[in-house]
Amino acid sequence: MAQKIQGTEDLYGGYMRAWQHMQDVARDLFGAYGFDMIETPAIEQVDTFVHGIGESTDVVRKEMFRVFSGALLDGLFESGSESHLKPKQRMAMRPEGTAGVVRAAVENNFVPQGAAPAKLWYAEAMFRGERPQKGRLRQFHQVGVEWLGAPDPAADAECIIMLMEFYKRLGFDPSKLRLSINSMGDANCRPAYREKVRQFIYDHKDEMCEDCLERAEINPLRSFDCKNDHCREVMKDAPLVTDNLCDECAEHYAAVKRYLDEAGVAYVEDPTLVRGLDYYTRTVFEVEALDGGVGAIGGGGRYDGLMELEGGKPTPGIGFAVGFERIALALAAQGGSLETAEPSCVYVAAASPEQRDAVFQATLALRNAGIRTESDYQGRSLKSQFKQADKLHAPYCVVIGADEVASGTVTLRDMSTHEQTSVTLDELLAQMPELMAKSRK
Ligand code: HAM
Repeated sequence: MAQKIQGTEDLYGGYMRAWQHMQDVARDLFGAYGFDMIETPAIEQVDTFVHGIGESTDVVRKEMFRVFSGALLDGLFESGSESHLKPKQRMAMRPEGTAGVVRAAVENNFVPQGAAPAKLWYAEAMFRGERPQKGRLRQFHQVGVEWLGAPDPAADAECIIMLMEFYKRLGFDPSKLRLSINSMGDANCRPAYREKVRQFIYDHKDEMCEDCLERAEINPLRSFDCKNDHCREVMKDAPLVTDNLCDECAEHYAAVKRYLDEAGVAYVEDPTLVRGLDYYTRTVFEVEALDGGVGAIGGGGRYDGLMELEGGKPTPGIGFAVGFERIALALAAQGGSLETAEPSCVYVAAASPEQRDAVFQATLALRNAGIRTESDYQGRSLKSQFKQADKLHAPYCVVIGADEVASGTVTLRDMSTHEQTSVTLDELLAQMPELMAKSRK
């Protein structure tokens, strides 16, 4: 039997409806904040991710799925490496959405000089070559937003406020979520801070793991996130970014917190929150569900240098993304669910095979009126058609027999009371939308 790749999932039935529900909630809420939807390609040039996410990150170094067409693959086997490929031929599946959206913004000039900010949201599959486990997939789904051209700390606060409202609308109890925030400084103050952390790691090199010593060279801040408990213990004494911010970054961070306080959004400050992607500047944030043990259910931050890294003009940006699969798990752990009710339908039944054509016509007419409609395609008896209608949770059956065909009517059967009324097809089409709406309540 053919099998799906480990760490990937089929989305169907209730799980698919849950993913669609999450997108519907996002469309309503993010729409009210002025965001429009965007979809970028699932494959991009490797450089789009390397420039944006950062060469030293795990996402780029270890987790990116490379893409080679058959023709490129042949050359690859001959040369034994991809070094002979042109940059345009080096492709990868997107591990996250921000780099691609920013690439699209640069390429299509979404934020020309003097223009209002571009506000974009997406709902897409992402691909990371991680070791599959609960809440950690190789193909997963994110809903995310990117807000380009807004340096104001109110934008940071609004992003976070919108994110927390999103969880609420998905059914989370806000008291069971933890929002952590931090400021990572900017090109002004971070280089000196990074140097201090590097020095700290060198001063404690006998206590740190090999990975951290390697990190000290390329990106010492990653040691705050080391999987080794002992390293994290040592890093508790490392200099904190919040003690090393320049005046502008400190003011920006204070304003973000003031806006969050005014909006009544609860948060904890975590000066060791560094996030796994290199493009962040100033505000970063992450949300964890206290139940479920699935890790972060969302995260984001400001990335004021990313547009330039992707070849555009200096343009500030901020955004976040949430993971559908982790949200579904975390919500289930709180006793909730993203699933919406199965859609109900009307079932059109033929009393005998002679009425097949009449059933065919009534079925099409109902569908054209926008009613979800089913009928029998397997030659079932009337009794078995009723059973089928019950299985499909049809609140009504339309029954057509020889008498109905002769009199130009149909019989409308209420499946819960078994009450039957005789109506013309036109009357049926006029009544059905309201009856179906009532039956859903
Ligand atoms: P991220 O923190 O890498 O940020 O991912 C965001 C969310 O995606 C995570 O909090 C988690 O819920 C989900 N997620 C990540 N990896 C996996 C996985 N392997 N399996 C299942 N779910 C996963 C970003 O991706 C940034 N682009 C967010 C952002 C947007 N920052 C600014 N704008």
